Amino acid sequence: MEVMNTISQLKQFIYHNKEQKQSIGFVPTMGYLHEGHRSLMQKAKSECDIVVLSIFVNPLQFGPNEDFEVYPRDTERDLQIAQDMNIDVVFLPTVKEMYPSEVNTKVSVSNLTSRLCGASRPGHFDGVSTVVMKLLNIVEPDKAFFGQKDAQQVAVITQMVFDLNMNVEIVPCPIIREKDGLALSSRNVYLNDEERVQAIRLFEALELSERWIGEMNVTTEVLQKHLYAHISSAPLAKIDYIEILSYPDLQPIEKTNTVTQILADKEIIVALAVKFGKTRLIDNRIYTNN
Ligand code: PAJ
Repeated sequence: MEVMNTISQLKQFIYHNKEQKQSIGFVPTMGYLHEGHRSLMQKAKSECDIVVLSIFVNPLQFGPNEDFEVYPRDTERDLQIAQDMNIDVVFLPTVKEMYPSEVNTKVSVSNLTSRLCGASRPGHFDGVSTVVMKLLNIVEPDKAFFGQKDAQQVAVITQMVFDLNMNVEIVPCPIIREKDGLALSSRNVYLNDEERVQAIRLFEALELSERWIGEMNVTTEVLQKHLYAHISSAPLAKIDYIEILSYPDLQPIEKTNTVTQILADKEIIVALAVKFGKTRLIDNRIYTNN
């Protein structure tokens, strides 16, 4: 496994491997790797000849009062995991390497970013789409792998790739969870014991949704109320949003229709963002009619 810190080094490696007709898979991350990241690496390894993993905590996607400075980092451990996963190259640039001067050019995907985390975290998705655009231009992968844990991010990146005619396939990968259902996240380490116990409410609410939709045939309005009641019964939960939208276009849907009626002609997402103490957790489930 090679560890590269500069863009020119990585571009040279890519150039050489493309000449050898190797297919390139790419897994962008901010590090502090867990099973969720590992599942993306595994899928990339199974579908591509060469896999590049990037580890870069991207300052552009953090708001001024967010956790950029304290975001968990453990490069040594990450490199060990990458090695165990048989990753070919780890790209580990500094902030200066990625942003040598003031950022003049940004990529901004509209519409899809006006709700959910786009509304709660102004500027976040411009930071994500800009860094992912840069990384995709550097790595020029055939396929790039993203987790559905960040379903809005998948929608935004897929739209960007379509709109800007980029030559990469975006591959969405399923959400990986702890045994009790909590979606894995690098930020879970911030949770204290009490918060960790109550954080399970997000997964429980998504599980219960299946029943509310299937057995009780609820409207989206009633579903939202049930979700709200279940999550807010955890004393430490501070709800940021509970939304039911069409997916992947993330548009509001008719509140008085039953979910089953809506699923007849579109997919929907149940998306949750809840704070426990200082930790903001997100989770979601996507429903199709089959
Ligand atoms: P990060 O939060 O490190 O996540 C990297 C990738 O891992 C993302 O595609 C994310 O959706 C996926 N992932 C995280 N937790 C997961 C889980 N429990 N199951 C499955 N996949 C999971 O997302 C980012 O970094 C950044 O925004 C990035 C795309 C790297 C741009 O900076």
